[in-house]
Order: sequence, then structure tokens, then C-alpha cells
Amino acid sequence: MSSSGGQKTSLRQFSLCCIMVACCLVLFFIYYKPDIKLPTLGIYKTCPTVICAKTAQDQDSTSNCSSEQHLNTPQSDTKKTQVAAVDAEPDTVLLIWMWPFGFKYDLSCSIFNITRCHLTDNRSLYNKSHGVLFHHRDIQGTGLPKEPRPWFQKWVWSNMESPANSAPIPAVDNVFNLTCNYRLDSSIPVPYGYLVRITSEDEKFKLPKKNKLVCWVVSNWKTQYKRVQYYNELKNHINIQAFGNAFGQHLSDQDYTDIVSSCKFYLSFENSVYKDYITEKLYSPMKLGSVPIVLGPPRQNYEDHIPPDSFIHVSDFSTPKELAERLFYLDQNHTEYMKYFNWKNRYKVQMSWFGKEHACKTCSYLQKNRGYQTIHGLNKWYWG
Ligand SMILES: *[C@@H]1O[C@H](CO)[C@@H](O)[C@H](O)[C@H]1NC(C)=O
Ligand SMILES: *[C@@H]1O[C@H](CO)[C@@H](O)[C@H](O)[C@H]1NC(C)=O
Ligand SMILES: *[C@@H]1O[C@H](CO)[C@@H](O)[C@H](O)[C@H]1NC(C)=O
Ligand SMILES: *[C@@H]1O[C@H](CO)[C@@H](O)[C@H](O)[C@H]1NC(C)=O
Ligand SMILES: *[C@@H]1O[C@H](CO)[C@@H](O)[C@H](O)[C@H]1NC(C)=O
Ligand SMILES: *[C@@H]1O[C@H](CO)[C@@H](O)[C@H](O)[C@H]1NC(C)=O
Repeated sequence: MSSSGGQKTSLRQFSLCCIMVACCLVLFFIYYKPDIKLPTLGIYKTCPTVICAKTAQDQDSTSNCSSEQHLNTPQSDTKKTQVAAVDAEPDTVLLIWMWPFGFKYDLSCSIFNITRCHLTDNRSLYNKSHGVLFHHRDIQGTGLPKEPRPWFQKWVWSNMESPANSAPIPAVDNVFNLTCNYRLDSSIPVPYGYLVRITSEDEKFKLPKKNKLVCWVVSNWKTQYKRVQYYNELKNHINIQAFGNAFGQHLSDQDYTDIVSSCKFYLSFENSVYKDYITEKLYSPMKLGSVPIVLGPPRQNYEDHIPPDSFIHVSDFSTPKELAERLFYLDQNHTEYMKYFNWKNRYKVQMSWFGKEHACKTCSYLQKNRGYQTIHGLNKWYWG
């Protein structure tokens, strides 16, 4: 009895001891973990990069993580040489594979305050280019690089034409890593223009002298165009002064400026109707002090780009006749008319620089987003 009781006591003491030792060990490992070089810690070291790379890939997101993953993974000898080539190159190299529509631009990004970019059209630099910029409408003429793509290099698809004005190329559906387009949901959005805050150095807005009510400058005239049909109806209700190649007269830039600024309203009618396809047909009259009457994507989409009270949308009226009546009213009421320029107290129009702005913004993007990225189903995204 007593001996079994003594055994129980010593067993209890032994268990207590074990628990205390275990506790001490746990505490020890909690506090000393960073100093211990256990082989398993190697796994913890690589783990986050893998997770990171995965999310970057899944979300096509902005991240520097997966490039680290590339660097950490075992590499073949050619990969190592390529890494060396990139590391030795201090600036981000963007190779302009073709000039858009053949138009050259100078290769400095300083006007955008973008530094450490090396834009080039020298194809000998292909192997060390971080990005290669392609212009959709010239791809079929010029072709894509034949040489293998270095693992770190991103191919950038650029296009400023609407889907109606540029045909899909099925063969290049899954080759690009980034898109550069007027659409706001592209990787590197470059709209045709945008509003920037005015500074104290900017002149205060003064309404230019007006001697015309409604104007339109148009060259591309097709009877099936929605804008042509709308114009044909609207002109039955209000006098529209129409200019441009479609009316047998070519305008110089100066002519265009003089005409548009002397009109109270301007028909900012897009040739085709697509999301975010809002072109200089809107931004030029806004800049020149004319009120744009827009025909294009829905009002809501315009409001993603410009203030709601800065334009008139044809869909604000159930018929062209009602629009004409509103314009007559605004022609009579100067106070009401001037409300369309309220935005001028805060903003001014900045037109984007075709080609050059795409290249510089792409380069800047490449500097900030080094992770793996790819575009699947470009054709479906753009052409629907
Ligand atoms: C990526 O790196 C650049 C330059 O080192 C840095 O400016 C940027 O914030 C980083 N981006 C992310 C998502 O960590
Ligand atoms: C460029 O940077 C300079 C100095 O930081 C600044 O004064 C200037 O306004 C910037 N220009 C643009 C276009 O951001
Ligand atoms: C293109 O780059 C190569 C290699 O840096 C150089 O040898 C060649 O002169 C360059 N060509 C032109 C036209 O600048
Ligand atoms: C690029 O590197 C490949 C080997 O990976 C080589 O065959 C090719 O000639 C190089 N191209 C240029 C333009 O240097
Ligand atoms: C013009 O519009 C204002 C409101 O902005 C209104 O108070 C005024 O009566 C209108 N004038 C005329 C002549 O209709
Ligand atoms: C670019 O996209 C291609 C095609 O999807 C892919 O094979 C390549 O790994 C991507 N490169 C980078 C740096 O994201």
C-alpha cells in the first residue's frame, strides 16, 4: 500500500519534472529561434518568395517579388549570363521594335520626369532589353523577334486604335506580358488626354471670342457611322458649321484651332463606340474653350475621365431635336453656358504624346513592376 503510494508520488514528481523541462525548452526555442541555424529554416527563407511569386502571377499584379524568385531558383548557365548582363546595365532598357506608323520620336523621357530609362530602337540590344514595345498596327508588316526571349524580358502590346479600326492577330494572342492602351484597365493606361491640376503659373481661363454656334470638323465619313446618322438628324434642327476633308476642305492645325475656339459647341463624335475610346475629338475642344457634345461610350464612362458638368452627352436627350433646343437655350443664357467651364478653375487639358508617352510610361512601369506578368486572351479582352 505504502510502497505503491511511494511509487505514485515519485511518478508524479517525474512527470512534473518532464513538463517543466519541456516548458523550459519551449521558452528557450521561442526566444532563441533566430540564432539557431536549423536546416528547416532554409525552407522558411524561400517560402515567402514562392507565395509572392504565385500571387503576382495569379493577379497579374504589381510586385517585385517574383523577379527575386527567378534569381533564387537554380539557373542554367545562359540564365546566369543574362542576369549578369542585366545587373551590369544600370538603366531600364526598352527596345522600340517598330516606330508606330513609322513616326519617330526622340528618346528622352525627361519631360515626364522619368529617369534611368534607356529607350532604343537598336535591335542589337535585344538580349539585354527589359522590355520590347510593339505597335499593333505594324506587327503584321514588321513581324516579331525571331530570337528566343530572355526570361526577364517583357513584351508590351501597344495600340491606340479602337477595335473597329484595328484587326485582331490571332497568332499573337498569348505572347505579350503587358498592354499599353487608352483603356483604363490596361497594364499601362495612356488615354488620349487627361486633366491636370492648374498651378498659380497658369493663366486664368478666358472664353475665346465666339461667332459660331455648333461646329464639326470631320474627315472620316461613312454613312453607317452612328455619328453621321446623328449629324444628319441634328442638322435639321440647328445650324451646324461643318469643316474638314469630308466637306472637301483640308484644315491646317492653325485653321483647326481658330475654328474650334470660335464655336460655342463642338461635336466630339467618335468614329466608333467603345469603352474608354475617348480621343482628341474631346480633349482638343476642351482645351480650346469650346463645349464638347459627345457621342461615344455612355456618359458614365466619360465621367471616369472628365467632370460630369464639363460636357453634353447626346444621350442626355431623347432626340436630336431636344438637344438642339437645349443648345438654343444655352446660346441665350450666358450664365448657364459658362457653367460648362467650371472645371477650368481647377484643371487644364494635357494631351498625351503619341508614341513617346507610351514608351516612357512603359519604361517607368517596368522599373516599378519586376514580377512575372502575362496577358492571356488579348484578343478576347480587346475585340470581345
Ligand atoms: C519595387 O521596387 C521599386 C524600386 O526598387 C520600388 O520603388 C517599388 O515600390 C517596389 N514595388 C513593390 C510592389 O514592392
Ligand atoms: C519634374 O520634377 C521637378 C522637380 O522635382 C518639378 O519641379 C516638375 O514640376 C516636375 N515636372 C512634372 C511634369 O512632373
Ligand atoms: C547598336 O548597338 C550596338 C551594340 O551596342 C552598336 O555596336 C551599334 O553601333 C549600334 N548601332 C547603332 C545604329 O547605333
Ligand atoms: C542573343 O542571345 C542569343 C543566345 O541566347 C544569341 O543567339 C543571339 O545572337 C543574341 N542576339 C543578339 C542580338 O545579340
Ligand atoms: C439664366 O440661368 C440662370 C440660372 O443659371 C437663371 O437664374 C436666369 O434666370 C436665366 N436667364 C434667362 C434670361 O433665362
Ligand atoms: C512573358 O509572357 C510569356 C508568354 O506568356 C511568358 O512565357 C514569359 O515567361 C513572360 N515573361 C515575364 C518576364 O513575365
